Amino acid sequence: EKGGYDYFMLKEIAEQPKAVADTLLGRIDVAGNLTLDEVRIPASVLREVDKVVIVACGTAYHAGMIAKYAIEHWTRIPCETELASEFRYRDPILDRRTLVIAISQSGETMDTLMALRHAREQGAKVLAICNTNGSTIPRESDAVLYTHAGPEVAVASTKAFLTQLVACYLVALYLGQVRGTKWGDEIQSVIRELSEMGTQVEQVLETMEPVRELARTLADKNTVLFLGRHVGYPVALEGALKLKELAYMHAEGFAAGELKHGPIALIEEDLPVVVVVPSPRGRSVLHDKIVSNIQEIRARGARTIVIAERGDEAVAPYADHLIEIPVTPTLLQPLVATVPLQVFACELATARGNEVDQPRNLAKSVTVE
Ligand code: F6R
Repeated sequence: EKGGYDYFMLKEIAEQPKAVADTLLGRIDVAGNLTLDEVRIPASVLREVDKVVIVACGTAYHAGMIAKYAIEHWTRIPCETELASEFRYRDPILDRRTLVIAISQSGETMDTLMALRHAREQGAKVLAICNTNGSTIPRESDAVLYTHAGPEVAVASTKAFLTQLVACYLVALYLGQVRGTKWGDEIQSVIRELSEMGTQVEQVLETMEPVRELARTLADKNTVLFLGRHVGYPVALEGALKLKELAYMHAEGFAAGELKHGPIALIEEDLPVVVVVPSPRGRSVLHDKIVSNIQEIRARGARTIVIAERGDEAVAPYADHLIEIPVTPTLLQPLVATVPLQVFACELATARGNEVDQPRNLAKSVTVE
């Protein structure tokens, strides 16, 4: 049942190109428009939405953080992403013009379920992004967009995360489409680019051997830090979460711009720091800033593990280890940038003799608050 792999997690990492492609299947028509018929919230209602609130936990929360960048850019609707466990306890402002998006692989996460119940009580419309047919969260929502990752068995989420991202991009683009935002032309081209992402993920998977080798050399480390910016920031958080869960190591993700506001004090000789570098094309200002961050931490002795777009020559000289990913549009980069971090955490866990599919203290679905 593990299809020849030692662990479900390895199998599920390998299934990601298909999971990404499957989640797009039947959702783009021949003209390149989105047809999200399952989203039964009428276009007239979606056009009235004046705020989007995303609620989720753990890895799904990281997908939601990335969705915020896409939704605000493509639709110009204010969007906030909140941990489901915090949401209802702070008396959030919700009304009939609020669209709440609840993201959950299992569809049974109690924190997320309680958040969406609270949202509906306040009159908000709830759209679920979920991987499990007929589970509680989609049943209690106004509409659901299913991710087509297939069953995810390993406790640490991998393919579900990538498909959550795809679903979030689809929702963002769909909102842009029905509202006719000024990014209309961009929306068409992004839909095309999104269709190529399965192949891009495949390419990343083919180049993972050096990442595995590197991970094995770090098995006796205590701490690994992760830095990112823009959509690379949630990717850094996800990389750190995977490492905590699987390798039981102290792993922390930071927004690279925050480095000088405190975390840089942690940098010491030979500390591994993974940096997710934005494309040098799109957000070139951010790219240059992160290159300076890498120089700063390296000057203080950090061992820099740099995930950067292929052909990014500016960053290469400062990378002790360079992990190249394909050229993608900025907002879609998390689909390829996350994959090396999954492989890294899985290999480190194996090197440390941990149970990859069943990390200690964790359950696949968390049905208590
Ligand atoms: C991380 C992980 C958890 C889940 C979180 C939400 O690898 O698996 O952080 O992402 O418990 O679970 P779902 O998506 O089922 O609501």
